[in-house]
Amino acid sequence: QEVFEMNNLLLEVEGPIAVLTINRPKALNALNSETLTELNEVLTEIEGRDDIKVVILTGAGEKSFVAGADISEMVNFSAAEGRAFGMRASEPFFKLQNMRQVTIAAVNGFALGGGCEISMACDIRIASENALFGQPECGLGIIPGFGGTQRLARLVGMGRAKEMIFACQNIDAAEAYRIGLVNKVVPQEELMATAKKLAGKIARNASYAVAIAKAAINNGYDMDIKNAVEYEANLFGMTCSTHDKTEGMTAFLEKRKEKNFTDF
Ligand code: HXC
Repeated sequence: QEVFEMNNLLLEVEGPIAVLTINRPKALNALNSETLTELNEVLTEIEGRDDIKVVILTGAGEKSFVAGADISEMVNFSAAEGRAFGMRASEPFFKLQNMRQVTIAAVNGFALGGGCEISMACDIRIASENALFGQPECGLGIIPGFGGTQRLARLVGMGRAKEMIFACQNIDAAEAYRIGLVNKVVPQEELMATAKKLAGKIARNASYAVAIAKAAINNGYDMDIKNAVEYEANLFGMTCSTHDKTEGMTAFLEKRKEKNFTDF
């Protein structure tokens, strides 16, 4: 196991799985500028590592995933500083969304404001029973600024996104599951094991194919259906010329369980 510690983040790599912990428990893991910069740096490192297949993002402690952007930093922002702060998160958040590795948010408590937003930038969300999701920004005189107005509406539909954002209506894990904001809810003590089990299942498949499937889903989502399906056909064709396709299909035909996937 490799461990890297930054001021506000902890990265633990074990085999193909990286656990990235936002580590500011005294501020309930609120995202300040330094944390966002470190996040961008560490995700750049991870993107360049072909041994890491899945990233699990979580928050330190048993109470909070991420309680939002850091209010004590934002309180004195000018308009220009606010815009710059929003854009500073945009780069690492798009990395979580579009990097070749699969990203899983293991939401272990408060996922408010920027916390809900960073979880939505991940591919998959698993929540503990005590998790609480919400966008309290309108109660602070601001709006969600780390992609929340966009990603929440895309994930749960406009009506529910508008209700949550306009009324600062927080929702518990069961409701988040009901409306499709999270994939699964488990007791807190099972959260990391559940996330790692899913990560392991993903990591056993052909990682090049998984990365291409992720690109197909993400990029196709922003296209019209005709172009999106044609884009998929092109990517499918690409995967047909890989070692992993020969290996995966030969293993099936030989009734062999063990597969040696090597592409990245
Ligand atoms: C800075 C925060 C914080 C935050 C909590 N803390 N959330 N500091 N920014 N977002 C700090 C508290 O000030 C406190 O510090 C310590 O963490 C513990 O929090 P408490 O409030 O004492 O805990 P508790 O009573 O259990 O309440 C938990 C809570 C509450 C319900 C999560 O802390 C809360 O409402 N936090 C703010 C949630 C929020 O509004 N998030 C959205 C932010 S706006 P001290 O020093 O007093 O111990 C946003 C915008 C994103 O995210 C877009 C930007 C462009």
